[in-house]
Amino acid sequence: MNTTTELSFIHRFEPAGLPGLPPVLLLHGTGADENDLIGLGRAVAPGAALLSPRGKVLENGMPRFFRRLAEGRFDEADLRRRTEELADFIGAAREAYGLAAPIALGFSNGANIAAAMLLMRPEVLAGAALIRAMPPFADPPEADLADKPVLILSGSADPLVPLPVAERVAAQLADAGAGVEHKRVPGGHGLTQIDVAQLGAWFKARG
Ligand code: MLT
Repeated sequence: MNTTTELSFIHRFEPAGLPGLPPVLLLHGTGADENDLIGLGRAVAPGAALLSPRGKVLENGMPRFFRRLAEGRFDEADLRRRTEELADFIGAAREAYGLAAPIALGFSNGANIAAAMLLMRPEVLAGAALIRAMPPFADPPEADLADKPVLILSGSADPLVPLPVAERVAAQLADAGAGVEHKRVPGGHGLTQIDVAQLGAWFKARG
């Protein structure tokens, strides 16, 4: 176990095995932690450095990256504060570990804070792969995401994020100038092998 509590988030860091690949910022879903997406990161971006923080908010004991009022209803003031805090952590971790700007790989709650970070602190991320994302803000801040690659993978039968909701976050990011690829995969809210294959191809194209 190589979890560390240094810097302002409990996190895991795996150094790059190959030079020149963008680092990957792993952002877990509700109830998971910094260990959850390490295997996925290794599978879809082999050789890339992995930075994996644990969300600081606890909901009935389950770690998350920001508070919510109900399923799919976010405490936007908390989301804004937590997004700034996570963005500052990424800056400090980049200095500590000597990293370039990372590409976020977020699942569910982690995808939602990654989308918030793109809109609030676009300079922090080189791009993002968002699995089962929904719009983080009712009224998104204006951002310039020109040339940022974004992959959104939505489940065609996701009961938590119906496709029209997923299309809204895709539109918000595209309106800000991001190069958005939005793909629908057969399945619900959970990760599938089709997601893994799509992610692998997308990260390979960025290597
Ligand atoms: C969220 O709270 O970010 C979304 O409802 C996804 C989830 O964590 O279940």
